[in-house]
Amino acid sequence: MIRLHVNVDHIATIREARKISEPDPVIGAAIAELAGADGITVHLREDRRHIQERDVNILKETVQTRLNLEIAATEEMFELARKIQPEIVTIVPEKREEITTEGGLNVLEMKELLQVQIPLLQEKQIEVSLFIDPEREQVDASHQVGAEAIELHTGAYANAKQSKNREKNLQRLYEVADYAHQHHLQVNAGHGLNYQNLPPICKIPHLCELNIGHSIISRSVFVGLTKAVQEMKLLIQSATNE
Ligand code: PXP
Repeated sequence: MIRLHVNVDHIATIREARKISEPDPVIGAAIAELAGADGITVHLREDRRHIQERDVNILKETVQTRLNLEIAATEEMFELARKIQPEIVTIVPEKREEITTEGGLNVLEMKELLQVQIPLLQEKQIEVSLFIDPEREQVDASHQVGAEAIELHTGAYANAKQSKNREKNLQRLYEVADYAHQHHLQVNAGHGLNYQNLPPICKIPHLCELNIGHSIISRSVFVGLTKAVQEMKLLIQSATNE
């Protein structure tokens, strides 16, 4: 069964709009887990626009499933990750001016840095995943730098307006997932996935984990977080068995 990691960043986005203490993403994470989430994902951005270090420190103590910490490839973040020791670290590209993570990591360009930093994380029993665009060269480079997993960026598929374009992006995800599996990399996926566009994604070969945030937190405003997580889990289950 494909595992669902719920990204709770957007709960912190609402909190930071007022710079007060509610709603607390730590409580959101606990509710998501009780509703069936298999993991909790948070992105500690350099500008701390939503998740704060306080959140990650408490989540490390309270998460009962697995904590996936998304970080940019900077010295500050690598050091923090080694200190906090989440179960998984996903390295993502980060630009201050972007609204959300735009493209995948250019692993080819930062091979030297990653070859040094990944073993230091793994020494602390942290699994390392790299968030990449579905491109074979990025898979090759991810394999070479010693990552355990890749997370395929599903944004191009999710944002494609025309069905022909969407189909093309989907085929690319299928093909590159298979290629990554041949290189013994765990295959994860995420970004821009919602209750409408998810079913074909569940057919990605060898898919292990999905990271989904915005659509679940958005739906929770209307139906509650428990129901929003349960509905996503059911959707994954039925789309996988179809
Ligand atoms: N995966 C990664 C690497 C991300 O950066 C994000 C957004 O924080 C997600 C998944 C979740 O994307 P969304 O909020 O669009 O579901």
